[in-house]
Amino acid sequence: MSSNTRIHNPGLQRKVCSAEEAARLIQHGDTVGTSGFTGSGYPKIVSLALAEYIEQNHAEGKEFKIKLLTGASTGPELDGALAKANGVSYRAPYNSDPIMRERINKGDTNYFDCHLSHTPGLFRNGALGDLDVAIIEITAIKEDGQLIPATSLGNNQLWLDRAKKVILEVNSWQSPEFEGIHDVWEDRSTFFPKQIINIHKPGDRIGSHYLTVDPEKVIAVVETHAPDRNAPFSPVNDSSKRIAGHLVEFFKHQIKLGRMPENLLPLQSGVGNVANAVMDALDEGSFENLTAYTEVIQDGMLSMLESGKMSVASATAFSLSPEKAMYLNTNAQKFKNKVVLRPQEISNHPGVVRRLGCIAMNGAIEIDIFGNVNSTHVMGTRMMNGIGGSGDFTRNSFISIFMTPSLAKNGAISAIVPMVPKVDHIAQDVQAVVTEQGFADLRGLSPKQRAQVIIENCAHPSYKPLLKEYYKMALEKSAALQTPHFLQEALSWHQNFISKGTMQR
Ligand code: COA
Repeated sequence: MSSNTRIHNPGLQRKVCSAEEAARLIQHGDTVGTSGFTGSGYPKIVSLALAEYIEQNHAEGKEFKIKLLTGASTGPELDGALAKANGVSYRAPYNSDPIMRERINKGDTNYFDCHLSHTPGLFRNGALGDLDVAIIEITAIKEDGQLIPATSLGNNQLWLDRAKKVILEVNSWQSPEFEGIHDVWEDRSTFFPKQIINIHKPGDRIGSHYLTVDPEKVIAVVETHAPDRNAPFSPVNDSSKRIAGHLVEFFKHQIKLGRMPENLLPLQSGVGNVANAVMDALDEGSFENLTAYTEVIQDGMLSMLESGKMSVASATAFSLSPEKAMYLNTNAQKFKNKVVLRPQEISNHPGVVRRLGCIAMNGAIEIDIFGNVNSTHVMGTRMMNGIGGSGDFTRNSFISIFMTPSLAKNGAISAIVPMVPKVDHIAQDVQAVVTEQGFADLRGLSPKQRAQVIIENCAHPSYKPLLKEYYKMALEKSAALQTPHFLQEALSWHQNFISKGTMQR
């Protein structure tokens, strides 16, 4: 047995090889399913070796591309390296790597963006094809072959079950203390009705703390010692603080009206800087004993768990800045009894989200005056990241809130627009909008009422007159209609930004 004390199963120990040897077991045209969710728990050295192998093939004039399925976004060693090598013909689901984003927007990689809770079902039902190889990062292999997962669960058990061949990357950088925080449960039936998911509180456990694999399918075990790598968050700025302030006011008011309990309802906090800043603000606020049933635990939520403001958080992954990832890694025992990591099908399960009555808080690229939200495409055409789990939570939560600064690109763009050019969240799913300017509670409002409250409460003062002017023209054109628009003008709103070469309107 090697000196690596993380591999305790003799059969799997015999399959230890180098990352380069493992990468050469993957072939052009293979569909590869990897672990990894928002920069956590993704394979790190087999993917780098695979990217190198692809580049070698390309240099020799040979075609080499794989289809890549993940949990969600990964890190530079996986998405970044494979995209740089132009080695991915198809990618699903969520991505936030900038190099992969370029490949997607250049048309080098076909990108299938779907709700993250849907990915496993789509795969089981054949929509994503067969899985040739799974590459899964784990923290340890027990003597009986149990696999201890790392900082994300994503689709790992599904890939392990369904892949023809499996490569395990055992990462000794990940804390051994993570053993016990996971809750692996999968309804393996393809047909319906599915089983009832027995989760009644965010901390409930229904499965096992380890992954399983048929050892016969394991073609390589690779040892590594490398950190998770996420991009750092932007520092909390005045705008994010004001967004958080409006949210806190709203929550307090709901409690006063008896519509929410003192410790609120389980929080779902989306990805990105704004969502992270809001968690920071809640950590400083007066709420106690908060809980989360969410997709990812970002820096702000980790701080809340540590300070005791939050008692428990359920998610599928950590999504931490490099600094906080390092902190978690050396202080994992502090969080062990406060965190449950689940497969993404369960962390984002619409039925559970509805049962628990989550408060969904997600970021947006832009929001129109009627409350439709674009959270994926800049200017309606250029993919930013993807819908992620925002749709899973938005439609099914007790209340769904979208938050964004009222201005983007240093004030050159208004995030409140007449009509979004790409709709990810329809107005019926969007119950509240918050910017640093204010909060718009849209529940029960008609489109005309929504337009007034969104422009008044959420638009930046420098764009409010333009939006008011637009809405006045829309009313002149079609006041009698349910949703007044002046289509010609609405469509040219984004076009004006582009054609002027600057983003000034
Ligand atoms: N027009 C053009 N670009 C815009 C824009 C707009 N209206 N609004 C934001 N952007 C750009 C920003 O400039 C920034 O780009 P940069 O990285 O090149 O500087 C980027 O989008 C991120 O914006 P930021 O203001 O920092 O917001 P964020 O980090 O909070 O992210 C989303 C916002 C929408 C991109 C992010 O929330 C997301 O990916 N959402 C979809 C997935 C999701 O909601 N998952 C939740 C699952 S539980």
